[in-house]
Amino acid sequence: MDIEDILPSRDIAFELLKKKKVPYHVRKHSIKVAEKALEIVESIKSVKLNNDLVEIGSLLHDIGRSKTHGFNHALIGGKILKEMGYPSELARICETHILGGLDKVDAKSVGLPEKNYLPNTLEEKIICLADKMMAGTKEVTIEERFNKWFSKYGRTDILVKAKKRIDAIQKEIEDLQ
Ligand SMILES: [Fe+2]
Repeated sequence: MDIEDILPSRDIAFELLKKKKVPYHVRKHSIKVAEKALEIVESIKSVKLNNDLVEIGSLLHDIGRSKTHGFNHALIGGKILKEMGYPSELARICETHILGGLDKVDAKSVGLPEKNYLPNTLEEKIICLADKMMAGTKEVTIEERFNKWFSKYGRTDILVKAKKRIDAIQKEIEDLQ
């Protein structure tokens, strides 16, 4: 079966966010992330991407915030979608969108199972990047986003690594444009 056949439609994705009681501001953020992510997809000329996966994945990437705003919302989101029978590609988008993705050391340090949650596919990378470029509903640069985090939390290992990963993702995407 093709992934498009089992991805929820945009309307169903919105309904699902409401049904799960994802806060209104998170839903607004997710719409903006989807817009940004699709803009990035359109800018990429040299590779064929799954637009529907990018759009629906963006809309649902924070569905785990229905339960918690802590780091675990990534895994909870993935679990919700898997339990509903949606494709693992969609669950992976939830699991890999935090910071620039988390490696085993990062995951352990924030209290998650010691596993890699790094974005691998371009779709995962695009959503991870678009999410960093949307602070709430406001578009920001990666520099602005991380500088804000650095001044709030300091230049912690996890943030410095995350910035490097996001810079690398941005570079990889620019090279495809
Ligand atoms: Fe999130």
